[in-house]
Amino acid sequence: MNKYDICVIGGCGHVGLPLAAVFANGGKRVIINDVNENVIDLVKNCKVPFMEEGLEDLLKNTVGKTLFLSKEKKVISEAEFVIVVVGTPVDEHLNPVFSTLKKFFDEIIPFLCNGQTIILRSTLYPGLTKKLNQMLKETGKEISVCFCPERILEGRSIEELHNLPQIVSGFDQNSIKKVSDMFRIVTKDIIIVEPIEAELAKLFTNTWRYIQFAAANQFYMMAEDFGADFYKIHHAMTYNYPRTKSFPKAGFAAGPCLFKDCMQLSAFTDNTFFLGHAAMLVNEGLPNFIVSCIENKTNLSEKSVGILGMAFKSESDDIRESLSYKLKKILQIKARQVYCSDHFVKDERLIPEDELIEKSDIIIIGAPHEKYRTLNYKNKHVVDVWNMIRGKQ
Ligand SMILES: NC(=O)c1ccc[n+]([C@@H]2O[C@H](COP(=O)([O-])OP(=O)(O)OC[C@H]3O[C@@H](n4cnc5c(N)ncnc54)[C@H](O)[C@@H]3O)[C@@H](O)[C@H]2O)c1
Repeated sequence: MNKYDICVIGGCGHVGLPLAAVFANGGKRVIINDVNENVIDLVKNCKVPFMEEGLEDLLKNTVGKTLFLSKEKKVISEAEFVIVVVGTPVDEHLNPVFSTLKKFFDEIIPFLCNGQTIILRSTLYPGLTKKLNQMLKETGKEISVCFCPERILEGRSIEELHNLPQIVSGFDQNSIKKVSDMFRIVTKDIIIVEPIEAELAKLFTNTWRYIQFAAANQFYMMAEDFGADFYKIHHAMTYNYPRTKSFPKAGFAAGPCLFKDCMQLSAFTDNTFFLGHAAMLVNEGLPNFIVSCIENKTNLSEKSVGILGMAFKSESDDIRESLSYKLKKILQIKARQVYCSDHFVKDERLIPEDELIEKSDIIIIGAPHEKYRTLNYKNKHVVDVWNMIRGKQ
């Protein structure tokens, strides 16, 4: 019998840690392998390195009992299932990079054993599951490969891991069944598809969201350009009208997944994915649009501007690919002074929100943290793309 049921490589990250904790809480013996020793130490002390609802309680229930941590790759040999959740390999232009993944597997292959099942969990460029399966076959070891994409909403992983259906794909019925049975500990709904279908399902899911946000952002810009009130239009469109129910509000569409996955799909279609590129231009253009609107009304070079909310989304401390930072860079060129604040992000360069309001002539809400609905903005000019404070000033 294996010492552990599951080894999660990259298990201290945003995706890996909730998954490891949920399996450990479900009675599986789980070993986390991660290269980041500082974070391993934090987790060993039941501290969560990022905001994730309910995760600390799960760590308190499981660390040292069914959940263990190690930076040593040799622990990989001691588990029946090996889940890989290290980041998606892309270069600085978001092109897929196979060499990073190959290097990673070259490192772990010596520790893989006959009879193990590898579960690829990171988002993958279409076709990579097949390529990795082939690569592992060539080692002569009897290792099965499955691809089971993660589709959680960061911050709500614990709840969503239990409530979302799990997509499972693989190359043989035996491993598909074993992996499906394992995921049934977490969720009752399992959807079995081919690996290429699972890879595309994940990319289509994120890209679909990205395109929906782009549609809302484009309409927001149109309405603003014509001096019309986007949120009155939004209400008129969506109130008691089922076919526009999922129409999002405007705001920064950012973070580590949506843009990247849209561009992965674009690379997959030989850069002929016009809809995806259009979505990228709209979403990435929103910070520039906001600055242009301010410039049309005032001499920005004489103004101090505060950005309230640096995380990439509400109620989060995750700043990865946050458009608030893009906004900051534009303003650093155009405005007299730029101040930044965030209720959750820990960064000594940020200032408290009261000080930001005091010092700024113009305030832009960058991330819609709930707390920002009720601040006293002291009659300052607030740019509120998210419609946070309407009627409350
Ligand atoms: N963040 C999300 O909401 C989300 C949702 C769905 C899917 N994904 C996908 O999941 C993957 C991981 O994303 P994440 O947000 O958890 O990233 P992350 O950066 O938070 O976590 C990655 C972890 O892997 C560790 N790591 C890196 N290289 C390693 C190695 N060689 N050996 C052991 N550990 C290693 C890092 O130290 C880190 O703890 C990505 O492919 C992403 O696209 C993310």
